[in-house]
Amino acid sequence: MKILFLNGPNLNLLGQRQPEVYGRTTLADIERLVRERAKKLKVGIEFRQSNLEGELVAWIQQAKGKFEAIVLNAAAYTHTSVALRDAIAAVAIPTIEIHLSNVHAREEFRHKSLIAPVCRGQITGFGANSYILALEAALNVNES
Ligand code: DQA
Repeated sequence: MKILFLNGPNLNLLGQRQPEVYGRTTLADIERLVRERAKKLKVGIEFRQSNLEGELVAWIQQAKGKFEAIVLNAAAYTHTSVALRDAIAAVAIPTIEIHLSNVHAREEFRHKSLIAPVCRGQITGFGANSYILALEAALNVNES
């Protein structure tokens, strides 16, 4: 099994960006944690980040036939992107929406996710652990 982890805009700044909201863990730290757990579980992963909506759309399209599940922290595009939503619906690969912060406990504009209706589920508010929980969820996504 192979799982694609995609990270959207500004997540490259984790560690320095609003640490009171997102913590001090960098994206490289999170990738290391995910790789360690994936190795134990004997799953292959790819871990990518882009600030560009079109690049994220292209990666979702290219995942068809290569990955069995996608874990997506679409960051701000969660709340704005019809293009990402359409890409997820088009490839029909089970996709898990994740966030470090609890988006429902924050500003009202973050309560709405345009991608949630086409995702299998949402994990939000567990910091770096959201990624590990999503890895576990992705492993069983075809049974749920
Ligand atoms: C985020 C939450 C989004 O609302 C925000 O735009 C982000 C990060 C999170 O992981 O908590 O950039 O996806």
